[in-house]
Amino acid sequence: MLETLSPQPADALLALIKLHNADPRPEKIDLGVGVYRTSEGDTPVFRSIKAAEAKLLAEQESKAYLGPEGDMGFVRALIPFVFGKDFDTARVDGMQAPGGTGAVRLAIEVAKRAGAKRVLMGVPSWPNHAQIVTAAGLELKTFRHTTAEGTADLDALKAALGEAMEGDIVLLHGCCHNPTGVDYTPAQWDEIAPLLASTGVFPLIDLAYQGLGEGMEADAYGLRKVLAHVPEALVAYSCDKNFGLYRDRVGAFYAVTGDAGALERALANGATIARASWSMPPDHGAAAVRLILSDEALTADWLAELDEMRDRMRWVRDRLAAAQQVGPIAMAPLGIQNGLFSMLPLSGEQILAIRERHGVYMAGSGRINIAGLTDGNIEAFIAALADVAG
Ligand code: LMR
Repeated sequence: MLETLSPQPADALLALIKLHNADPRPEKIDLGVGVYRTSEGDTPVFRSIKAAEAKLLAEQESKAYLGPEGDMGFVRALIPFVFGKDFDTARVDGMQAPGGTGAVRLAIEVAKRAGAKRVLMGVPSWPNHAQIVTAAGLELKTFRHTTAEGTADLDALKAALGEAMEGDIVLLHGCCHNPTGVDYTPAQWDEIAPLLASTGVFPLIDLAYQGLGEGMEADAYGLRKVLAHVPEALVAYSCDKNFGLYRDRVGAFYAVTGDAGALERALANGATIARASWSMPPDHGAAAVRLILSDEALTADWLAELDEMRDRMRWVRDRLAAAQQVGPIAMAPLGIQNGLFSMLPLSGEQILAIRERHGVYMAGSGRINIAGLTDGNIEAFIAALADVAG
């Protein structure tokens, strides 16, 4: 039977990790998968997570099953950070999910059970979005995410919403757009939110990088604006980046609705999907996040760590923007983009050439993880870019 399976390519982004690890050149530069790096090029465990893990080790008395919803203390502790301190908590509930990917999959599967047929999505997007939508058996309809000037294309979103059909959901990045770094501005969200309400297109907001753009509050602006206008939405959340828990797989799925019965059913459906998929999410990272968020000093330290990360990424962006023009590439827009990613207009040959000639690893789309750049390698990167693009 197994011989009938068709061969599958390795995930291109994850394959880059192995390619980079196998490269013996000490000056190689990893701008591939989206993990934060310090100015030394490391991805350390957060101080606040280390402290929470020490507490967990000392205090945790059991690892018995919790249930498909995972650690509800974690899920609820996040609510004021995501939805705002004054959000009506009767409108929202959630469950833990294995990472942001698990949360997006749960959201799509629950939406499908609720009658969703099609997902509208701006492109380019995180490649796994399209994969999850099609794996769930929903149709995908794309629209353009960025304009030629490099701003978020509000008109394209408006046109897609204008042509939407019953059963459509729209997948929006809450902040730190992956892969472009180009977010809708607050003024654009102010237009998007009432438009979603008037068209009735069901929003699914993926918030995977809160705190890595402009700050925890500013990065939630769009999500909160939308929820102030629409009666219902789904949210996929990831703590993998903003708590540095990548391989621990820490995410959450939230349903928002004013109908208490519908809220209960959304979560009950989520629980049956989880049970049939991974049964229960991994506990450790979520428990550590819960301990941080239930301790004022640890929360303050975690927020300070996020500030340090954001400051460093701003520094990288400023340095890239200061290069102004590298061959035909205008660098200034990178300075005003948000989060870990930006996209460079490079061809496949140029991306291969920068890897082979200079040991610079970036996604095949031209996406770079700007956190991979440091004081020690940024000039070499700009020179390498000039060499292949110039
Ligand atoms: C990325 O886009 O690099 C991250 O979200 C990691 C992943 O799972 O793709």
